[in-house]
Amino acid sequence: MNILLTGGAGYIGSHTCVVLLEKEHHVIVVDNLCNSKFEAIKRVEAITGKKVIFYQEDLRNTPGMDAIFRNNAINAVIHFAGLKSVAESVARPLDYYGNNINGTLSLCSVMAAHGVKNLVFSSSATVYGDPEVVPADETAPVRPFNPYGRSKLFIEEILTDLHHSDLSWNIALLRYFNPVGAHPSGRIGEDPSDIPNNLMPYIARVAVGRLSELNVYGDDYDTPDGTGVRDYIHVMDLAEGHLKALEKLATNSGLVTYNLGTGKGFSVLEMVAAFKRASGKPIPYKIVGRRPGDVATCYANPSLAGRELCWTARRGIDEMCADAWQWQSMNPGGYGETG
Ligand code: NAD
Ligand code: UD1
Repeated sequence: MNILLTGGAGYIGSHTCVVLLEKEHHVIVVDNLCNSKFEAIKRVEAITGKKVIFYQEDLRNTPGMDAIFRNNAINAVIHFAGLKSVAESVARPLDYYGNNINGTLSLCSVMAAHGVKNLVFSSSATVYGDPEVVPADETAPVRPFNPYGRSKLFIEEILTDLHHSDLSWNIALLRYFNPVGAHPSGRIGEDPSDIPNNLMPYIARVAVGRLSELNVYGDDYDTPDGTGVRDYIHVMDLAEGHLKALEKLATNSGLVTYNLGTGKGFSVLEMVAAFKRASGKPIPYKIVGRRPGDVATCYANPSLAGRELCWTARRGIDEMCADAWQWQSMNPGGYGETG
């Protein structure tokens, strides 16, 4: 199949490129490189020995997107492109709604014009907000509490309306839990441009000596060791979930929603210990106050994806940390200025 990946140069997109190319799919990437580097695409090609067709384009440029669809016989789209920082979304809500929602509207209008109606969308466990019951399944109430999370929920609703207006659209809404780790080659991985907001890239930079210590946001939660508990999922497991979702759409699935998580929660201190084991490096940390907007515990019930996609996350936290460390230690400056 010819598969278009929006945001395919980013963290999850680049790993998904590898999985798709290894399954002999043709991959076309559209990315404006606002949060990624072309170097990631070069490395995907080096890992797989296959070509990626790359367009540096903004999704909101509808004529530009139209030209890409005219020049490539696209069968399905995986829509990763979007802005993803919670803190930034609180400070700049219009940029977040503008980019994430208008980008999706532009993409879908071009897809409709070209009769391409198979779409996988990157949603997030953040749509559940603070889940009343864990593990959270797909029927849990959705009530995100920041503009980033609301942009994901609004897009889910727009895509649901689109499907209802024309039942020939096949759409998979994938709610990712906490993606971490890297390709085992260590050649691609997560490369935040600023000081990382998320736990794993922060720990990795402490281990490699780029940051001096980790701030642990609160040890007074109602969890076994008092620190926040999350469902960390290896990015390669997540990437494989996209392949399974595409296979599902090919059966004329209609609209489907799946949690992609492991079903297991680990605390901040458990992740610090696992990273220390994997890297052999000290991870100095200090306990500080809670981060506003954080929840105590969030992990998935991923059994629907297990039943309907035949997909289960296979990699544990030791492998997640070992692969994250491989990437970080081989690329202490990330992709650098090479792209
Ligand atoms: P990322 O920032 O690494 O990748 C997103 C890519 O989209 C980047 O390469 C960026 O340059 C591109 N992009 C953004 N706006 C664009 C636009 N208007 N036109 C073209 N390209 C554009 O992020 P990621 O971690 O790979 O996340 C991928 C998707 O998954 C995002 O939609 C994100 O919200 C979602 N998600 C991520 C996580 C996570 O923890 N990483 C969790 C849940 C959901
Ligand atoms: C965050 C976002 C969420 C987004 C997800 C994936 C917030 C409030 N939530 O989720 O919307 O979908 O990232 O990108 O930002 N922690 C520390 N020190 C740090 C960083 C994190 O102790 O320097 C703790 C957090 O308090 C939390 C855990 O580590 O308990 C995981 O944090 P993080 O990786 O940021 O993910 P989430 O908070 O789950």
